[in-house]
Amino acid sequence: MYDFESRLNRKITGAVKWQARNTKQEEYSEDIIPLSVADMEFKVMDEVKEALHEAVDIYDPYGYQGCTEAYLESVCDWMRKRHHAEIEKEWIVTSDGVVDALKRSVERFTNPGEGVIIFTPVYPPFFKAAACNETRVLECPLLNDHENYSIDFDTFEKLAQDPRTTMLLLCSPHNPVGRVYSREELNKIVSICKKNHLWLIADEIHHDLILEGVSFTSMLEYVKEYNHIVVCTSASKSFNLAGLKLSNILIPDIDARNQYIGGDHFSINPFSMAATQCAYEKGERWLKEMMQVVKKNNEICKQFFQEYFPKSSFPRLQGTYLMWINMNSYYANEDEMFEDLYDVAKFVVNRGSTFGKEGMGYMRINLALPTHLLEESLNRLKQLVEKNKKI
Ligand SMILES: Cc1ncc(COP(=O)(O)O)c(C=O)c1O
Repeated sequence: MYDFESRLNRKITGAVKWQARNTKQEEYSEDIIPLSVADMEFKVMDEVKEALHEAVDIYDPYGYQGCTEAYLESVCDWMRKRHHAEIEKEWIVTSDGVVDALKRSVERFTNPGEGVIIFTPVYPPFFKAAACNETRVLECPLLNDHENYSIDFDTFEKLAQDPRTTMLLLCSPHNPVGRVYSREELNKIVSICKKNHLWLIADEIHHDLILEGVSFTSMLEYVKEYNHIVVCTSASKSFNLAGLKLSNILIPDIDARNQYIGGDHFSINPFSMAATQCAYEKGERWLKEMMQVVKKNNEICKQFFQEYFPKSSFPRLQGTYLMWINMNSYYANEDEMFEDLYDVAKFVVNRGSTFGKEGMGYMRINLALPTHLLEESLNRLKQLVEKNKKI
């Protein structure tokens, strides 16, 4: 078993999540356990660290670097064994991050004034990416049936039929609601995009983080029938490598690829390449064990909220390590809720409304941390419940 128990202190390293402040923008005087930003409180697997040490010598001097054959093969192998997708090395365009790739896709494939659809609530940078070419953000809220989320295909189709609409930015699996879309849903999405000539940009960064009993289908399954598909992937979420800033954007169609690249030259950070290659070659067991911890943490959280906040509600987690909790029955006002959470309980999670207006009164909890630390955090919340008699 890998180590998923050690307590890390990432404050001194400048980890973003650990710079959390309370609602008055004050630093916390004591150590808090942040459950916000989507990286993990788990050490990177030893094999990846060894690969990084070796890379110091292998890649010396640290000049402009292209992808090695071994790297490209590791990406293709991972997609084959993990996602049953046969991809070609040529399809892989590297990027400093998936958010950059979303923005670049909007810049390269749309014209100012055109509409870009997003399903909300969604990971906040989607809003900016959808607007980044003086484009119009077309919000298509997910249907929410007692925290069972699904796509509102009627609204989606209406928005898609407008000739000024030219793109869909899809988050699959969907952050923050944890949905893994079914094959039937993906069939419908592709068919609407195809019928209305929309670019389909699929952010699949959470594709490896799938809960037991759930099956993920990649948009790569549809690239033979529709050539306007771009699939954004990375080892960053799966293996806790986000700071290395490397993602693989898969663009099967050569014209689409050239349009995306636009004559620019991309070089790659050799250390990020070495770490990603190693994770893809040797990381399956680590990932499996890590998702067992996420599953356990999800169970603990569910039980906790059912017991102490019985009027809260949440979707069944299918993918991602993020739990989305509706607290509207307890708080009429989100500011008041976060004063309680951040200032009184020192329970640092993400604010629901940052994911879109449908997220008002929700919180997003990151479950990728040692179980004993999650329990310690939840205990703080318990004190709050008892103190404020919120139930
Ligand atoms: C859906 C989604 N896309 C993209 C990102 C960030 O990707 P990157 O760091 O590669 O820009 C995140 C991070 O939380 C995410 O949840």
